[in-house]
Amino acid sequence: MKKDFFRHSFDTVIIGSGLAGLRAALEASEFSKVAVLAKMYPTRCHSTAAQGGIAAALGNEEPDSPEWHYYDTTKGSDFLGDQDAIEVMCEDAIRTVVELEHMGVPFSRTQEGKIAQRRFGGHTMEFGRAPVRRACYSADRTGHAIVFALYEQCQLRNVHFFPEFHVLDIVIEDGICRGVIALEIATGRIHIFSSKAVVVASGGYGRVFKTTSNAHASTGDCLSILLDRGLPLEDMEFFQFHPTGLYGLGILITEGARGEGGILINNKGERFMERYAPTIKDLAPRDMVSRAILSEVKAGRGINGRDYVHLDLTHIPRKIIEERLPEISTFCKIYLGIDPSEKPIPVLPTAHYAMGGIPTDIDGRVLMDETGRTVVGLYAAGECACVSVHGANRLGCNSLLDTVVFGRRAGKAIKKDIKNLSLEDIKDEEIDRTDSILESLLNSKGSEKIGDIRERMQEVMMDDCSVFRHEDTIRQAIDELEKLSLRAESISLKDRTRRFNTELLEAVELRHLLNLAQAVARSALQRRESRGAHYREDYPKRDDQSWMKHTFVFKRENDWKFTYKPVVIKRFQPEERRY
Ligand code: FUM
Repeated sequence: MKKDFFRHSFDTVIIGSGLAGLRAALEASEFSKVAVLAKMYPTRCHSTAAQGGIAAALGNEEPDSPEWHYYDTTKGSDFLGDQDAIEVMCEDAIRTVVELEHMGVPFSRTQEGKIAQRRFGGHTMEFGRAPVRRACYSADRTGHAIVFALYEQCQLRNVHFFPEFHVLDIVIEDGICRGVIALEIATGRIHIFSSKAVVVASGGYGRVFKTTSNAHASTGDCLSILLDRGLPLEDMEFFQFHPTGLYGLGILITEGARGEGGILINNKGERFMERYAPTIKDLAPRDMVSRAILSEVKAGRGINGRDYVHLDLTHIPRKIIEERLPEISTFCKIYLGIDPSEKPIPVLPTAHYAMGGIPTDIDGRVLMDETGRTVVGLYAAGECACVSVHGANRLGCNSLLDTVVFGRRAGKAIKKDIKNLSLEDIKDEEIDRTDSILESLLNSKGSEKIGDIRERMQEVMMDDCSVFRHEDTIRQAIDELEKLSLRAESISLKDRTRRFNTELLEAVELRHLLNLAQAVARSALQRRESRGAHYREDYPKRDDQSWMKHTFVFKRENDWKFTYKPVVIKRFQPEERRY
């Protein structure tokens, strides 16, 4: 090792400053010295984009119970969610929201001053009888409100933040995690963080698709790093499309808009969800609503024969929209010049959330394989993880809940494990390997452009491997992704400096995106059934006989391997999913 690298030692290193990372940091700060590495400035994490709410059966507005929440989440997951994890999450939801309130989250209020709640897709009372108000919200800026409260708490507990640090590697030796290697974006210097425990809380990877609600930084770097390190990813075929992305842009229009009474309309003026989900209509789970919208478009019932439908809020009093939906109202005005109180909003499904990710046990410990063996000192929580509470399809407002519940549990698990975890220096070979990858990118002499390859990958994933899939299209996607991966070996960078080299970061991210796109497409090819967000036109039925199991995908050299793990079923047996 010749260069000047910066070495740090912490008990716990957390990758990601979103809700899962902040909550884990807070917990771990009670007993350990904690660092949080954030690719963005911490309070610009993607969790701040979460709009509509956090689910908890408080029953503040209507009767509700954690048991109904548990049932809805299981049914919403198309029975692929692990019920031990779902039960833990739904049972812990009320405590979690009350705790957040006590930390200072400014939730919206009922007339009596209780936390206000609204309806959200798939959340029902009495096991599916009717929609229920379960989403606790702070107007339509709920994620933003929670991030700021948790960030303040972390500051009070002396958590060390490393803003704009891009993680390049997670070092694992013989099944033991030793820490993290990261690039300080401002200087281009490499920092080495040796630690007893690492929590990966780095969020999703929606940027593999062309139309997405995800931030530009959502490139799934850490999932890809772990895949390259020989660890599996779980259930990668399940990627959620949120039904209401702003047409042409993909920006999220919260489901809270439908929770407040908004309805979806086709070019005939029909409230078409009545046909697809007669009981809960526009508040059906996202996989069903996204398919319904695209089916309307395919049948020529898009607005003016085009590829979008309308989300109509014009019947909702302006005062309600201003108070409860100010963010999306502003988006409509800024981006499309539409006042949603006066005109319907053009919407189309947008890639929103990865149900799959780094497999963990219910305490955030990362699994090495389908047998349940864990990597010592490595934990994951939030969207990057797959615990699996969302199974094949996540219900809205369960992601914020997942981040906070399982971020906290990961922190608690480290407390239990820490006496058996040791702090050792990361070896020079590991650092040199990472540095040489950066050097080779900086000195690359190819002719390919990063933007061209990324754009093509996003198109391919959107056209061939998104809401509707078929063996032929998936194979087409895999062929194209292989070609793009080869092309990515010959990119060239214009900026060859180290300081704030965003082109270099994009080159690193592109490799990760291509890796994950392949994991999604290959896992989708294997699963010959339709379940939740994974809809195969060539296998349109759910097949519980063969497929009540989680996919584990491994990358071996240039080959891909699949193993499977049974779904944990406790209280609720799989049933037909009617809404
Ligand atoms: O529609 C929304 O506000 C999104 C919420 C979520 O993904 O949980």
